[in-house]
Amino acid sequence: MSNFFFEGVSNMRILAIESSCDEFSMAIVENGNHCVMMETLSQIATHAKYGGVIPELASREHVKYFTHVLEKVKLFLDGDLSKIDAVAVTVGPGLSGSLLVGIQVAKTIATVLMKPLIPVHHILGHIFSTQLTQEITFPLLSLVVSGGHTEIIYSRSYIEHVLIGKTRDDAVGEVYDKIARQLSLPYPGGPALDKIAQQGKHTYVFKKPKMDEEFSFSFSGIKSAVINQVKKGTLAEDEIKNLVCSFQATVIDELLTKLNKATSIYQPKTVILCGGVSANKQLREQFLQLRDRNVEMEYLIPDLEYCGDNAAMIGTIANFLPSVQNEGKQKLECNPNLTITEFIERFL
Ligand code: KG4
Ligand code: ZN
Repeated sequence: MSNFFFEGVSNMRILAIESSCDEFSMAIVENGNHCVMMETLSQIATHAKYGGVIPELASREHVKYFTHVLEKVKLFLDGDLSKIDAVAVTVGPGLSGSLLVGIQVAKTIATVLMKPLIPVHHILGHIFSTQLTQEITFPLLSLVVSGGHTEIIYSRSYIEHVLIGKTRDDAVGEVYDKIARQLSLPYPGGPALDKIAQQGKHTYVFKKPKMDEEFSFSFSGIKSAVINQVKKGTLAEDEIKNLVCSFQATVIDELLTKLNKATSIYQPKTVILCGGVSANKQLREQFLQLRDRNVEMEYLIPDLEYCGDNAAMIGTIANFLPSVQNEGKQKLECNPNLTITEFIERFL
């Protein structure tokens, strides 16, 4: 008997689980585009004092508190979890201990309720979080900017995805977090630096990295340049604001220049900006201004509440993916470094 089952495009009520990093989130998503409830327990307060996520602590907290989130789901369903049609869960990429907790919870619910179990790739979740509030038309070209990833992905359909380019070193969110830590700002650093950047002037010029591949990114050079300036300890408050403003302007220029190039080559119908860093005010504004250059394309960003990690995004794409059946359910494992290509080969 096959371990995979695909009903094609179906309209399901999916219980989705996302636990790849420091949030434990569960949501109920209908028809792949309507989130009817979501409960997310963030561990930011736990990790803030260390200036970043401590993986061991993250998985322990997931184990300790996931029942609080599950209780909220039960309450919403009047105590009857069998009102859902399927369970979806992030299988990677992410922190292995964190992913494991979500997968165990998903396996248990799907097994007890005898419901299908749908494995989901975290980055695809970010891309399709857009359709929780907007209509998308294929083909898509997505710029994914998060704490762990900076990628451009071309999607012909829900099950056909090609990685066009990615960062060769740090992800954009990671650089925000590391600079913020050097400035003694709270974790995660993105929101704080976003505000500081708005108060400064673009006065610093950074060297552009040389890339062989057309759509590759590199942010370690600008990260070190900014951190070295801060380490001197001689910058006045206004100079720090200018430094952060210049850093942000340079990073946004790099991201959107490469995205524009890819857009002109791949000619998508929809261009998407997503991932935690897509909450950035200036990045959102400059991305939406690109509409004026390409009026025949839609430029979409998820609503702010769906930019960071959340379970609703996992429930969107899950509606269009195959489920694992029978012993495949129990064999489902996490893969912390799961690429989109591996995900397609293994699960689609
Ligand atoms: O997608 P996400 O929630 O988690 C990962 O999958 O990594 O992204 C988190 C990242 C963090 O690095 C955080 O600093 C960054 O998103 N971030 C921002 C902003 N809000 C969150 N970066 C820049 N500007 C923001 N407003
Ligand atoms: Zn994420």
